[in-house]
This record gives sequence, C-alpha cells and structure tokens, in this order.
Amino acid sequence: MSIRILIADDIEETRSLLKQVLTLEDDEFEVVGEAGDGEEVLKLCRKLNPDVILMDINMPKMNGLEATEEIMRTYPDANVIIMSVQNDTEYLRTAMEAGAKGYILKPINHEEVSELIKKTHSKGMNRKKSQPKEDLKDAKILSFYSFKGGVGKSVIALNTSVIMAEKLNHKVLLIDLDLHFGDISLLTNKHTEKNVLDLVDDDMTDSYEAMKNYFYNYCKNLDVLYAPLSPEGADYVSKDIVNRIISTAKQHYDYIVIDTGVNFHEHTLFALDSSDKIFFISSMEMTSIKNSKLGLGVMKSLNYEDDKVEIIINLTSEKFGISKKDIEKVFDRKVSYYIQEELKPIRFSVNRGQALALDSKGKMSRFYKTLLKLCKEL
Ligand SMILES: Nc1ncnc2c1ncn2[C@@H]1O[C@H](COP(=O)(O)OP(=O)(O)OP(=O)(O)O)[C@@H](O)[C@H]1O
Ligand SMILES: [Mg+2]
Repeated sequence: MSIRILIADDIEETRSLLKQVLTLEDDEFEVVGEAGDGEEVLKLCRKLNPDVILMDINMPKMNGLEATEEIMRTYPDANVIIMSVQNDTEYLRTAMEAGAKGYILKPINHEEVSELIKKTHSKGMNRKKSQPKEDLKDAKILSFYSFKGGVGKSVIALNTSVIMAEKLNHKVLLIDLDLHFGDISLLTNKHTEKNVLDLVDDDMTDSYEAMKNYFYNYCKNLDVLYAPLSPEGADYVSKDIVNRIISTAKQHYDYIVIDTGVNFHEHTLFALDSSDKIFFISSMEMTSIKNSKLGLGVMKSLNYEDDKVEIIINLTSEKFGISKKDIEKVFDRKVSYYIQEELKPIRFSVNRGQALALDSKGKMSRFYKTLLKLCKEL
C-alpha cells in the first residue's frame, strides 16, 4: 500500500515540484492533496486522513506551527514533517513541541525527503500497533416517531439521550433527523453549532474522524448531530448520507437516538428500518390516538415485530375524559409508558433551552422518573 501524502505550502510551484519528485520516482508515494494555507490543511486533513503531512511554516491564514498544533489536538497519531528554510534550532524545537514527527530543511533534497517520509511513516505504524485499539462498538438504534406532530418526540428524545449518557454512562449520539423542522438545536440553545448540512457541504462523510467534528458534545457522553437550520437544507441530505453517517457512527457509540419528523420520507423510513427499537409516541387526544392507530397499522405492514415498536402516551392526564384502558382498547396493544402532562418543568426547560434531565429540579419531575425507568429497561 502506498503512503498517502498531503503537501502544505503556500507556493504552488513548490508543491507541484515536490509532488513530481515524490510520485514520478517512487511508486510508494501517493500525493492525495495539496493545501495552500493552514486552514486548508486542517480541512483536507479531516477529509483525507493522510499518512504523512509535509508542512511549510510560513503560510497565510494559519501558519504551519499553529496548524500542526491544531492537527495534533484532533489526531495525535498524525505524522507531520515540517519543511523549513530556517536552520534555527529554537524554531525547530517549537515545531517538534507542537507535535511534528520530523523536519527537513529547504531546499529539499529528493532522497532525503523520501527517506524521511518512509521512516516517519513506519515509526508511526509501529506506534499505532503498540497502542491499545479502541474497541469497535455496535450501537443500538432507538427512534422516536409519531404520526401526529407536537406530541413530545423531541423533548423525550433529548432527555432520554441525556439520561442514557449522563446518568447511565453510555456513549450516545443523538441525531436530529427531523431534517425540515428539527428542534433539538432550539431545545439545547445551540443554533450556531455545526449541523448535518455543514457535514454534507464540507463532504466529510468518509470516516468517523471526519464526521465527528460535526457532532456537538452536549454533555458527558452525549454528542448531537443537529438538523439544518431551515427546511430547504433537508433536500441536500440524502438517504445515502444518512446511511453512511449511521453505519459509521454505529461503531463508536453504545446508542444512537434518532428524533424523526412526522413524515414518511425515505430517510425517516431508513431510520425506522435500521432501528432496534421504535418508540411510537401519541398524546391523550382523540386525533392523536386516531392517527397513531393508523400509524401502528403501517408499522405492521412494514413487518416490524411487535416488540420492536413500543407505545408511549405522552401528556397523560386524568382530566381529559379518556382513560388508559380506553386507549389500550383502541390500540389493541399494551402501552409501555405513560408520561404525565407536567407543564411547569417542561416549559421551563424548553424556554431556557436546556435539557430538563440536566437540571436538579428537572430531575425531581415525574417526566424524568418515567424516562429514567424507560432507559433502565432498555
Ligand atoms: N409531558 C409533557 N407535559 C407538558 N408539556 C409537554 C410534555 N411533553 C411535551 N410537552 C410540550 O409539548 C411541546 C411539543 O413537544 P415537542 O416539540 O417535543 O414535540 P414533537 O412531537 O417533537 O413536535 P414536532 O412534531 O413539532 O416535532 C413542547 O413545547 C413541550 O413543552
Ligand atoms: Mg420535534
């Protein structure tokens, strides 16, 4: 296998000359990318995951030392070789402290650079071999779905994720797959964080290393992938991309929680198909119950087993003239969880933009206690 190299130098001529000498005379090398400034190096590094980065120091936007520091923060295994014109030991010491694995002085001698690349790469491989490997996981996928809007899907998906992560110590990724009208950024007060559309625009779906920069770490053990900020954005997120994100992320989390939209778009169907468990949510209102009955019929026609689909009745109250018994009779199914209507703590957390499950008062609510029970029973 060839050594994949990324060349970073602001002078185009230097880059193409280097590329020529590296690739023409040695088929062990493949130049996979070229960057003209420090910011571009970071971007290409995430996208291409190169084996070796040849890094110039004086570059616009972000110099080579800063870029090296930044790369090492995210990819401590990266093999950066600094190219410098300055034979200044102090300068090179700074580069090595920033995490560079080697350096070479300009003008660059072909044999010297070839040898250094091979040596640095092979040392890197040995380092990797001696490191304990991250155990690949196989996340369980939990989707929250409803056949009528406004029944509490998003609030429940968010708080379930927080409890699973923060309280029960599972590694969780929450995906806001309500691509047209996603509310998780509102519920967590994070409109300015990156979302799935940025991930698609930057074409960062090739690896977990690339995509994880678009997951926002909301609290201990919980990452969130937000939905686009406006409905048009949904058109650019295809089912294939959703598939790639889920199948890649599956290896790095214990649970992937999906908040779906009220629709039958292909990505929603894909999420439902991929789920180990679908929490089908209805409220205690007749219209919602009627739609949910239809929805459960659709679940059946999709050949989902009964134990894959669990019913949650949210906004439960004795005051509405419908009893739990009535509901189970209509569904001809047992309801797994009834969640009490509790305006005060939920409104407060929604308006504040902070998950109720992160708040000491919120943890006293019956809403929290029911979701904790649900999480423990998974
Ligand atoms: N158990 C509850 N008690 C009181 N209010 C609740 C409860 N559950 C949800 N709500 C309220 O209902 C509103 C709708 O909740 P949420 O946005 O989670 O629903 P949704 O099903 O995701 O809606 P959409 O279809 O718009 O995505 C929220 O503003 C929240 O305040
Ligand atoms: Mg919602």
